Amino acid sequence: VSAPLRIALLGAGSVGRAVAERLLTDGEWLADRADGRRLELSAVATRTPARLAGLKVPQGVAIESDPVALVANRPFDVVVELLGGLEPAGEVLRTALDAGTAVVTANKMLLAESGEALEAQARRSRAALRFEAAVAGGTPLLSVIAEDLVAVRIERIRGVINGTTNWILDSMETSGLDLAEAVAAARAAGYAEADPSLDIEGIDAAHKLVILGRLAFGLWIPVAAVRRVATEPPGAGGPGIAGVTRADIEAARAQGQHVRLVAEVRRRGADIEAEVVPRQLLPDDPLAAARGVTNIVAIEGQPVGSVTISGPGAGGPATAAAVIADLVRIARGAGSTWAGLPARDLQPAAAR
Ligand SMILES: NC(=O)c1ccc[n+]([C@@H]2O[C@H](COP(=O)([O-])OP(=O)(O)OC[C@H]3O[C@@H](n4cnc5c(N)ncnc54)[C@H](OP(=O)(O)O)[C@@H]3O)[C@@H](O)[C@H]2O)c1
Repeated sequence: VSAPLRIALLGAGSVGRAVAERLLTDGEWLADRADGRRLELSAVATRTPARLAGLKVPQGVAIESDPVALVANRPFDVVVELLGGLEPAGEVLRTALDAGTAVVTANKMLLAESGEALEAQARRSRAALRFEAAVAGGTPLLSVIAEDLVAVRIERIRGVINGTTNWILDSMETSGLDLAEAVAAARAAGYAEADPSLDIEGIDAAHKLVILGRLAFGLWIPVAAVRRVATEPPGAGGPGIAGVTRADIEAARAQGQHVRLVAEVRRRGADIEAEVVPRQLLPDDPLAAARGVTNIVAIEGQPVGSVTISGPGAGGPATAAAVIADLVRIARGAGSTWAGLPARDLQPAAAR
């Protein structure tokens, strides 16, 4: 029998709690898929142990409040970072990778801001760094790009990759609301944070686009280089969907079209361009079909033409399934999400 995979789970929020629940209730079923290796919950870091209420956490599982101390003081095979934000998540990842410990994270903000340094560190220490859940939540996307489409020359990826803004645009269209009313409705329905600016201004989608750009084009695009302000309607003048008006939505609807926040990264000559701006889409555009919080991503390249993937972009249990898929891959000996790709395909524009 192979040794169990000892897991430190950092964060017990929407995703972290769902990961703990799967590991505790589905152990045998998951081990059957992990070459017989048990995925063992060894420790949990949370400041609010009540978040684990209702889960049968065995006696031997350490529950601690400080994720940095937990990772620094005890050996684990994998650290699962589901804290969110830049710190202390960044310190935890640096500590784990430095020690050669594998890391699974869903933290798109941290990867977009520090991905280049984290990749260098993971390559140096030969630790696996996997992040399938960071883009499109429970929908398989990153492994598809990095593994299944490895023989495709990708030219462009475009997608609806922020569920909150899509829900808002969708309800502006279906209920005739203006932006502020739709944002309030999204908050009331639990689809928007108290401070929804990361979503509304297209920053969250830009973070995800940076990750897609790395896998498709071998380049960590600086977040600030992602264009987020549309120069023409819909949404002219504001970042993300901040400038979208009821008139924009009605003008689109009068032509049988839909407004979507489209994140796009593409090759253009020797350059890679990235933008997150609202677009008026024809009804037969695959992205126009995104309703509510659904994510849809179209990957274009030769010789496949276009491959479209859609599914749940968020939600605790769905996102946890992507986190656990990475744990299973690590148990089977897989490397980082980018393992099959070259370290760098392109030079950043500044280096040319
Ligand atoms: N929710 C989704 O559907 C989804 C989808 C894709 C990706 N993600 C990503 O997954 C990550 C987690 O998201 P989430 O929605 O699960 O977040 P969340 O519900 O806010 O949970 C975050 C957890 O981390 C803990 N935490 C944060 N800072 C901490 C610190 N300094 N020390 C100890 N504990 C700390 C929180 O503890 P306290 O309760 O004590 O504050 C909480 O348990 C984020 O990177 C997010 O972007 C989420």
